[in-house]
Amino acid sequence: MSNPTPIADLLVRDSDSLAAAVSRLDASPLGLLFATDPDGRLAGRISAAEIDAALARGMNLSLRVGAAMVPDAGGLPAGLDPAELRKRANGSGNVIALVDGERRPVGFHSPASARRVPIAEPQLGGNELKYVTECIETNWISSQGSFVKRFEEEFARRLGVPHALAVSNGTVALHLALAAYGIGPGDEVIVPDLTFAATLNAVIYTGATPIIVDVARDTWNMDPEAVAAAITPRTKAIMPVHLYGQPADMAPILAIARRRGLMVVEDAAEAVGAAWQGTPCGAIGDCGTFSFFSNKLVTTGEGGMVVFKDDAIAARARRLRDHGMNPQKRYWHDEVGFNYRLTNLQAAIGCAQLEQLDGFLARKRQISTFYEKRLSKIAEIETPHILPDFANSYWVFSIIADCAALGLSRDQLMARLGAAGVDTRPLFYCMHEMPPYKTYAGNRDFPISAHLSANGLSLPSSTSITEAELEYVAGTIERIVGARRLARSNGT
Ligand SMILES: Cc1ncc(COP(=O)(O)O)c(C=O)c1O
Repeated sequence: MSNPTPIADLLVRDSDSLAAAVSRLDASPLGLLFATDPDGRLAGRISAAEIDAALARGMNLSLRVGAAMVPDAGGLPAGLDPAELRKRANGSGNVIALVDGERRPVGFHSPASARRVPIAEPQLGGNELKYVTECIETNWISSQGSFVKRFEEEFARRLGVPHALAVSNGTVALHLALAAYGIGPGDEVIVPDLTFAATLNAVIYTGATPIIVDVARDTWNMDPEAVAAAITPRTKAIMPVHLYGQPADMAPILAIARRRGLMVVEDAAEAVGAAWQGTPCGAIGDCGTFSFFSNKLVTTGEGGMVVFKDDAIAARARRLRDHGMNPQKRYWHDEVGFNYRLTNLQAAIGCAQLEQLDGFLARKRQISTFYEKRLSKIAEIETPHILPDFANSYWVFSIIADCAALGLSRDQLMARLGAAGVDTRPLFYCMHEMPPYKTYAGNRDFPISAHLSANGLSLPSSTSITEAELEYVAGTIERIVGARRLARSNGT
């Protein structure tokens, strides 16, 4: 992949003033500049860190770039083949100038030069191919195959629940769960404002009314106080979402549900492997649902799972998943059902993925520990709160930027990171703001989800991310913030 930022945007003359460098740095998506000598040759590099250090040494901004830069007359020759380039860059997370025969910068290499650093890509390096091949060789490609049963049993075992039903995706998992409980027109289901739309859509499919409530500042998930305030005689269920792998605050939610006789349906689409007080997310309430879309920690391409504790509800869900057909009497339908089955081909991938889940989770922990350590030092960046007994699975590591302090909108920050080859995603839009869902907001307020949604972004968190890529992502954020601070404090 070619570098998204032209080299011209990254150059400054070593004879230019530091004041000039400050404003150019602020426009550089990499938050750094290469300095050239009067002949245009590579002479050094400079970022806000060097200028800060120079100012701390008593220098001022009218002085030359050359006095503050890190001398760097090296670079790597432009035109090296990519493998050689990577070898010479030696797995470093740095940005390295590429120079011509005269040592003039003509480009740059960074860990994002080879590939855009992705948010969350599937990892299919285990037994996926072997198991899918087995399906094809044995002719078992529909939902009638041994991998479906194996996937369900293994999933239920991991979660410590009696019933797991594999379904076509995480949205129908939610719908099937609600349908199995008989939730429908006239009923209300409490949902958080900050979630993916499928949470609300599933409620709407049943004919019930989603009641949107604000989220809490510490978990970014459903605020239990807002839940308590939203309960009416029509409330039938509470649907906490464990957003980005962070468990919701389940103790007060369970207490409210018990007191009022409500079902707790956990949307754990993003939280396979997360746990609250030692119980896996999805197995805390009455029922839990999961998504195996390709960006999820466990993927089957498209797919989902719904887990139940109650035998009768699980049996009803199993029937509803298969057109409402009587399991003992083929083509006899006891009720109107759906075709929400998962194929054996998909389940085969799921089985192979589950074999790797512990490794995936361990890698997510390494990634989050790295980001947490580096980014929590930046005053303008808020990292997910670490709460005792809330085992975040860190599906995607997300941050909240202090956009007011940065003087940069979230979208501008994302655009800079994008220009540096770093893939990011905005946090979800607030449900109460979008036309199809506005009506479910009532007269409630959503200050916290509005703040998180407007200022939040998710960072590259693939299990396949390299150490150099992680270093590059964190370093780029540090440099962009540093350049912003300098520009703001110097009024440029
Ligand atoms: C919170 C949440 N709920 C439900 C879903 C729906 O899952 P799927 O895309 O598998 O239908 C998603 C999907 O990503 C999700 O993030």
